[in-house]
Amino acid sequence: MKNHLLDYLICPTCAAPFDLKVDCLDGSEIMEGTLRCATCHKDYPIVRGVPRILKPDISAEQRATADAFGYEWTHFSQLENTYESEFLDWIKPIGKDFFPGKVILDAGCGKGRHAGLAAEFGAAEVIGVDISNAVDAAFANTRRVFNIHIIQADIYDLPLKASFDYAYTIGVLHHLPDPKSGFLSLIQHLKDGGRVSAWVYGAEGNRWITHLVSPIRTLVTSRVPRGLTKALALCVAIPLQLALRLLYRPVNDRLPMLKKFLFYNDYLYSISGFSFRENYSTVFDHLVAPTAFYIYRDEFTSWFAEGGLTDWNISWRNSNSWRGTGIVRGNSARAIKERTATRLLSGDQDSSKQKEANAR
Ligand SMILES: C[S@@+](CC[C@H](N)C(=O)[O-])C[C@H]1O[C@@H](n2cnc3c(N)ncnc32)[C@H](O)[C@@H]1O
Ligand SMILES: [Zn+2]
Repeated sequence: MKNHLLDYLICPTCAAPFDLKVDCLDGSEIMEGTLRCATCHKDYPIVRGVPRILKPDISAEQRATADAFGYEWTHFSQLENTYESEFLDWIKPIGKDFFPGKVILDAGCGKGRHAGLAAEFGAAEVIGVDISNAVDAAFANTRRVFNIHIIQADIYDLPLKASFDYAYTIGVLHHLPDPKSGFLSLIQHLKDGGRVSAWVYGAEGNRWITHLVSPIRTLVTSRVPRGLTKALALCVAIPLQLALRLLYRPVNDRLPMLKKFLFYNDYLYSISGFSFRENYSTVFDHLVAPTAFYIYRDEFTSWFAEGGLTDWNISWRNSNSWRGTGIVRGNSARAIKERTATRLLSGDQDSSKQKEANAR
């Protein structure tokens, strides 16, 4: 953890600032230490360079999700050249020119592949947050970059001020127990006029997955030992890679009139230039997640409406997913905070008020 991350952090329980105790430094990186809330005195450890700011009451479902993705990203921690164009496609129509000088939140950062790109594009600061041990891979992949910070935290309870110009969340919300409330929680951390981008699996175009793959995933492959799921993913990834290289790529490039006969073509062609390891990790990703929602356009759009966002742009990607971006306006952000405060009032009156005040 770099010292200046403290400027952005608040206690997830009462929104007060933290006091920092350093136990071990490596250059300017705080490797071990403690963050203590100045008001409620709860302690959160800094372990292997990463602040771990998780409340103890995370649900069993979220723990299972964290366990699955912690395994995935620490076993597939490589960085690939194809990530830049894929990232820009996920956040389209936002381009590289949007990043310079911005304070950016990567919500559900996984192994940190996009945090690194955001910094390369000129962001002022990038904070990557993930609930899982993927943060260890993200930290290893980004620790040499002075303006990237990695935190282990829950998107529903981010220990962060409303200080971001831009937040993106790629492939994360559909793995939450309640995707819409994750989205609404995330946008509370944007400044007035801040922008959000989200990408989720579509319900449209994925009926074969929801009918065939999802039952196998929920009943078997997310539950068996990870090594077995990895072996199964390998058995799928080998023929898949052969089909991508020997069929999908040549047909789309040289005989495009035939591509309409290929199954799931838009998506499979989009990954046909990726390395074997990358596609292997994507297959594993689709088998390991305990929770995955497939979201209809209307539902996705309703999140932007309910969040009071303006200037939305929602688009269909690779005929199987939705990406959207919009701007948070002061009133809407405040309205959400008020709703959240009301929800919290019964259990935690003082802390919700304090959180609201701090976010303003
Ligand atoms: C499919 S991965 C995508 C990772 C990254 N965005 C990327 O594209 O490389 C989903 C990530 O969301 C994280 N995640 C799931 N639930 C979360 C939560 N409640 N708070 C923060 N991160 C969460 C997982 O740990 C996982 O790393
Ligand atoms: Zn506190």
